[in-house]
Amino acid sequence: MSGVPQVPQKDPQKTFYLETFGCQMNVHDSEKVVGTLVQEGYRQVETVEQADLVLYNTCSIRDKAEQKVFNRLADYKKYKKQGKTFGVLGCVAQQEGEKIFERAPYVSLVCGSASYRNLPDMLVQIEAGKQRVTGLDDRETDACFETEFTARTNPHRGYITIIEGCDKFCAYCVVPYTRGKERSRTSESVLAEARQMADLGYTEIQLLGQNVSSFKDPAGKQTFAELLAAVGEVPGIRRVRFTTSHPRDFGRDIVDAIDAVPTLCDHVHLPVQSGSTRVLDAMQRLYTREQYLERIAWMKSAKREISITTDVIVGFPGETEADFAATLGLLEEVGYDAVFAFKYSPRPNTPSLKLDDAIPDEEKAHRLEVLMARQREIQITRYKKYIGTNCEVMVEGRNEPRAQWIGRTTHNKTLNFTAPQTATPKAGTYAPVLITGSFPNSLLGELVI
Ligand code: SAH
Ligand code: SF4
Ligand code: F3S
Repeated sequence: MSGVPQVPQKDPQKTFYLETFGCQMNVHDSEKVVGTLVQEGYRQVETVEQADLVLYNTCSIRDKAEQKVFNRLADYKKYKKQGKTFGVLGCVAQQEGEKIFERAPYVSLVCGSASYRNLPDMLVQIEAGKQRVTGLDDRETDACFETEFTARTNPHRGYITIIEGCDKFCAYCVVPYTRGKERSRTSESVLAEARQMADLGYTEIQLLGQNVSSFKDPAGKQTFAELLAAVGEVPGIRRVRFTTSHPRDFGRDIVDAIDAVPTLCDHVHLPVQSGSTRVLDAMQRLYTREQYLERIAWMKSAKREISITTDVIVGFPGETEADFAATLGLLEEVGYDAVFAFKYSPRPNTPSLKLDDAIPDEEKAHRLEVLMARQREIQITRYKKYIGTNCEVMVEGRNEPRAQWIGRTTHNKTLNFTAPQTATPKAGTYAPVLITGSFPNSLLGELVI
């Protein structure tokens, strides 16, 4: 033994912790951020305690979402003394900008989604001792944040961004301000990514954008429906989903593509927001109740049964009892398989901020409750009718306490199923299941062998 003292080897790698709030766009952005940081020599860790760099990818869609971010930052303030670096990414970062440094002085990095490709540079600046670094000014860029380093968390099912930003400016919505103007990727680059994913063993692709139906190929080659069909035809791809579509741009050609290409899933999420044309007008949604129902009729006349889901806002300024009743009536008329409903929340920069938010919170809460109860009844009836039918699921995993496997149908429903002990369906494989029971939000079945 030499006399040299044995110094415990410290892990030389820089570590980061990343927590993600918000929509699928943020989830996918985080996959890109993780990939970029790993490429820069960082290692992802599971807790704030273990991390040198703590990042929050934030959502600003409703006030509650924004408050959550600031509460989280306050919770972890104590770690600043330990020399950790804090960064705020995403929609609150873009919206609040440098004001975040005032509210949370221990934050060193504030970066909106269009500036993520500059993250490595920004981190170098922080390492060099710069106290505050921002990436906020790049929202007009035509380039999307594409990276070959995307670290997808699921090895079977993955997102592909086809369009960033939003130009719709609905009266209540922060997205056009946080994510900037609409810019599409070329269909060629989307298809190249889809092929690459298929080569890696992915079988399900979800095309992503705040507004996928306004996709405009910068090379002028393909419409959204054509791109959708082309992704569905990539060898190896068995399922394609897309989210979110705006009713104004939702063309019949999308339904025709679903009819023509069997890999396109039988599910469309088409947010309606309100069943009252008067409220839709005040929301600047650019369609009437009748035009929305026309799109529903296209879907209902499709060859396969398309499952339809939606988003609703209750208590928008000026929403009367009659307007709300019109929304309830619309739920009946359409027969949705899921409704994501929210109380109206006034947001910074948006046009509806100027409107009087006069409906008291209790009334909004009441409307939300009535709506969800009604929708629950609708779903109970709708889900029941699948009992006795067969369908294919993508296996997602196992629910050990219940001794069930978890699967997802083409309709995007959760289908929990049992299988004989000898059968062990693997995550990411497809399995035939006989549906034997139903709940308001999921189905029950048995593996068919
Ligand atoms: N791009 C999509 C989704 C936008 S955000 C679309 O156009 O539909 C997801 C949902 O959040 C919206 O559909 C809407 O129902 C809800 N939402 C957006 N802003 C809101 C606000 N200020 N208050 C309450 N709900 C809101
Ligand atoms: Fe927001 Fe409307 Fe754009 Fe959807 S379409 S992201 S609700 S502005
Ligand atoms: Fe939220 Fe931004 Fe998505 S505000 S919903 S994370 S686009």
